Amino acid sequence: MHYTVFGFLVSWGTGSLAHLLPRQAGYFTESGLPGQTIFLPTTIPAGVKIPVVVWGVGGCSDSGTSIAEFHNEIASHGIMVIVNNGPTSRSQTNATSLIAAADWAQKVAGQGKYASIDKTRIAVSGWSCGGLLAYTASRDPRFSTIGIFSSGQLDASQSVPVVSKITKPIFYFLGGNGDPAQAPGTRDYSNLPKALPAWIGTDNKGHGHAASGTFTAPSIKAAAVHWVDWLLRGNASAATFFTNNAEATAAGWMGISSQNLDKINVAPIDG
Ligand SMILES: *[C@@H]1O[C@H](CO)[C@@H](O)[C@H](O)[C@H]1NC(C)=O
Ligand SMILES: *[C@@H]1O[C@H](CO)[C@@H](O)[C@H](O)[C@H]1NC(C)=O
Repeated sequence: MHYTVFGFLVSWGTGSLAHLLPRQAGYFTESGLPGQTIFLPTTIPAGVKIPVVVWGVGGCSDSGTSIAEFHNEIASHGIMVIVNNGPTSRSQTNATSLIAAADWAQKVAGQGKYASIDKTRIAVSGWSCGGLLAYTASRDPRFSTIGIFSSGQLDASQSVPVVSKITKPIFYFLGGNGDPAQAPGTRDYSNLPKALPAWIGTDNKGHGHAASGTFTAPSIKAAAVHWVDWLLRGNASAATFFTNNAEATAAGWMGISSQNLDKINVAPIDG
């Protein structure tokens, strides 16, 4: 089955219900979760379960739709993405909003339009300043994995105190030349607990601070989609993107390093 989304021809594999998703998503707001933007697949076929990604915006003040194309892409793969600012708001955000997003998702899961939300599968992530909020929020036991997009402790003395406490599989997606997070993110990765599952890669096009702030580069979309597909949907085929350097390299990543990925074991969401 093929669909054209955002100008790219994409196709779903078969073998699970997720291939029935229409590969289209949109965003909206909910009064129960003020100041945040929710991305969801446009239609969710019966039987398809939807995990959750909470996302901290860049600058801790970008709007909830500032990188909507990227968030639509993730959502279209069967994910509810909750972005921690209103669609047009430039309010200052903090880590509490990422916790509030998880609270809300768990509250609505199983009801009405959220019947298919799987409240046991929630990732925390963010870009730049939002990645630092994700570090903080990740202590909440409900988050099962962490996505750090062009971020890291700028203050070197803070790296060990922050990342030595990380207990969840963590993935770093850095921007290469021109990304002020390149060195801090790399340093944080090197200071992680040695037994922790982790992956790091650098965009080889030098898109800078995460694709020049647009996140529209196919490399960054592909990496994010494989991350959620594996860590939240339990799709073992998606895992090879990270366990086999060739796949990520072909998708536009370099400087790839990983540790303990063989310890990650996520049951397939579709059973
Ligand atoms: C599982 O991941 C592979 C590799 O990314 C992808 O081609 C396939 O469509 C995914 N399967 C489902 C059901 O999402
Ligand atoms: C976090 O943001 C919320 C919403 O803007 C605000 O009410 C709260 O006071 C902030 N908390 C801290 C610790 O700054």
